[in-house]
Amino acid sequence: MALGSAVKQMFSGIASRYDFANRVLSLGLCVLWRNRLVDAVAELKPRNVADLATGSGDVAFAIRRALPRETEITGYDFCEPMLEIGRRRAQQEAVGLEFKIGDCMQLPLATGSCDVVTIAYGVRNFENRAQGLSELARITRDGGTVLILEFSQPQIWFRPLHFIHVRLLLPILAGVLTGDFGAYKYLGTSIAGFPNAKELSSELKMAGFREIRVESLLFGTVALHRATK
Ligand SMILES: C[S@@+](CC[C@H](N)C(=O)[O-])C[C@H]1O[C@@H](n2cnc3c(N)ncnc32)[C@H](O)[C@@H]1O
Repeated sequence: MALGSAVKQMFSGIASRYDFANRVLSLGLCVLWRNRLVDAVAELKPRNVADLATGSGDVAFAIRRALPRETEITGYDFCEPMLEIGRRRAQQEAVGLEFKIGDCMQLPLATGSCDVVTIAYGVRNFENRAQGLSELARITRDGGTVLILEFSQPQIWFRPLHFIHVRLLLPILAGVLTGDFGAYKYLGTSIAGFPNAKELSSELKMAGFREIRVESLLFGTVALHRATK
């Protein structure tokens, strides 16, 4: 099965337990990291934001709370069951937030149409990262910003602890919480195989971005990349 289809199927399977598992597995740190991303978006005062690989909209809802009502915020994902959770929540909370189907390999967005593009824990799952980053560049307007929150490679002294957590503890704990041991085994493998912050910065440059800044979180375990088109 192609990576994209396997990822879609995996997230469909864990959609209903995804947010809860994240909070527990990161000991709540995912909320702090997400808020770093949201603060960075708020500083930019955009007219519109596209939150890609939005999942059930955790980031999109937080951006909605931080920005004025007139800012248009749309979440895109290729996994319908994740989007459905976001849509239901948006309806319950009566907030102006749209969730649309969209594959980051070929997004249903016009060239240069986005002020700010955000993506949290999505780039790691791209079937073809060069194609996905070029697509992010295509939809961002000139002078617009892309913000990528993603796992990264930690500082060398933290690696043994990180390895034990990600490759051994996390798949077991997550398997118990979600009932899907395979999905979180994939998480460990995908984190280990992902480029470090410097390498991702080079890939962003190749995709057409400039002024790339990196904020390292928890000893480099997670990185927030900001890039200008
Ligand atoms: C780890 S979740 C992150 C969800 C959300 N951004 C968050 O922080 O909670 C990854 C999401 O990326 C989506 N995804 C992966 N590859 C994608 C692609 N090529 N296009 C659109 N969505 C994708 C998955 O369906 C999943 O919902």
